[in-house]
This record gives sequence, structure tokens and C-alpha cells, in this order.
Amino acid sequence: MITFRNVSKYYEDEPVLKNIDLAIGKGEMVFLTGPTGAGKSTLLKLLYAAELPDGGEILLGDFNVGQLSHAEVPLLRRSIGVVFQDFKLLENLTVYDNVALALRIRGRKEKEIKGIVLEALKDIHLRHKVESYPPTLSGGEQQRVVIARAMVSEPSVLLADEPTGNLDPDTSKYVARLFHEANIHGTTILIATHNRELYKNTGKRVIRLDNGVIIGEEIG
Ligand SMILES: Nc1ncnc2c1ncn2[C@@H]1O[C@H](COP(=O)(O)OP(=O)(O)OP(=O)(O)O)[C@@H](O)[C@H]1O
Ligand SMILES: [Mg+2]
Repeated sequence: MITFRNVSKYYEDEPVLKNIDLAIGKGEMVFLTGPTGAGKSTLLKLLYAAELPDGGEILLGDFNVGQLSHAEVPLLRRSIGVVFQDFKLLENLTVYDNVALALRIRGRKEKEIKGIVLEALKDIHLRHKVESYPPTLSGGEQQRVVIARAMVSEPSVLLADEPTGNLDPDTSKYVARLFHEANIHGTTILIATHNRELYKNTGKRVIRLDNGVIIGEEIG
């Protein structure tokens, strides 16, 4: 589902990712960990075509991500759900409309959308915030809405960058369960995190990145 072949990425003249080779199969759930500045977020951004690689090849499903035409970028993004720090909620839309947006873009009917969005908000325990605007929510509440937004369209791939960064331990556990459920239903998931609790005892692959290089892989 996801392949990196000898991928490199530079910011200015500094290498941030060096000769990355990585293969993630359809339906896998994989964790990416490593110290701050290791290149985890950059690797996820490359997959979303938010950044372009300077060398090598990145494949996601049928897309050659490093070489997309303008028309293909939105198509790629429609198949990916993202929980990224710099992909915030729209402040002038309610929680409901923020979560509904991804479904509206896909042309779903309003009646269907309503059922899906309310169910998703119930899942993250924010049903009562449906008419609220993001700036009136706590950081952790906003983060849960971002997670709901990424998951409602049942993307074939979910990319999450430190998804539990703003959450307390109980809520983190709950969110982890939602990710596992999505994975059981077939979503391929890649999560970058410092939070060992997220991958401990999962039996899933944990890839360790340091200074732009994959230095090892273990089973969580
Ligand atoms: N837009 C940018 N311009 C220049 N340098 C950047 C940019 N984005 C990231 N970098 C640099 O690339 C390196 C890798 O950053 P990245 O955000 O991928 O690390 P990370 O592993 O996600 O770290 P953290 O655990 O702190 O989130 C860092 O040295 C960072 O300073
Ligand atoms: Mg990061």
C-alpha cells in the first residue's frame, strides 16, 4: 500500500530523510518513533504530498506520490485521512460542519452525512459540542474533532502525527481503540509518536527513525 524506495528529503542543504526504504502492506498498522527532529513528521508530509521528495520514489496505492499532476493531488488526499498538527479545524465552521466537510467533498447526501457525523461525535464523546466553534473547545477536544474528521470518510490510509499529544491517558487509550477499530475494518494506518503507550503490547511494527535514517524496527 505504501512504499518508500531510497527516498531523501533536504531542507535547505540539510538532509532530513536519507535513503529511506520502507514497505507497508494494505491493512497494516505501523508506528513511527524516534527523537525530536528525527524526520517523522516530514515522512508523513511526503506521503500526503505536502512536501516533495528530493530523491527516490514514494508509492501510495496507485499513486506515484512524488510525481503527481495538479489534478491528482486532491485525488490522493481524498484517499487519506490526516491528523496533522498544522492541519487545524476551520475556526468559522461548527464542529459539525468541520467533520461533515470531508463527506460533502465526496458528494455524500446530507441525510447520510448527518448520521455519520453525529455517530462519530458520539464516539469521541463530543456529541454535545456539535454546534460549537473550534476556538471554544479545549486543546484535547479539538484534537478529538480532528481525529473524527480524519476517520468519518473511512479513508484507505490514515496518517496521524502525534495524535495523542493533547490528550490525557484515558482519552489517549480510547482514541487508540478507535484507531485499532478502523484498522480492523481495513484502514492502513501510520502513526508517528513519542508515546510508547500507544504501541506497547500491540504486536504491531514499530519503526525507529533517528537523524533521518531508519535505525531499526521492533514489534510493539
Ligand atoms: N519546513 C521546514 N524548513 C526547514 N527545516 C525543517 C522544516 N520542517 C522540518 N525541518 C527540519 O527537519 C528535521 C526533521 O523535522 P521533523 O518535523 O520531521 O521531525 P520529527 O521527527 O517529526 O520531530 P518531533 O518529534 O519533534 O515532531 C528537523 O531538523 C527540522 O528542524
Ligand atoms: Mg513531528
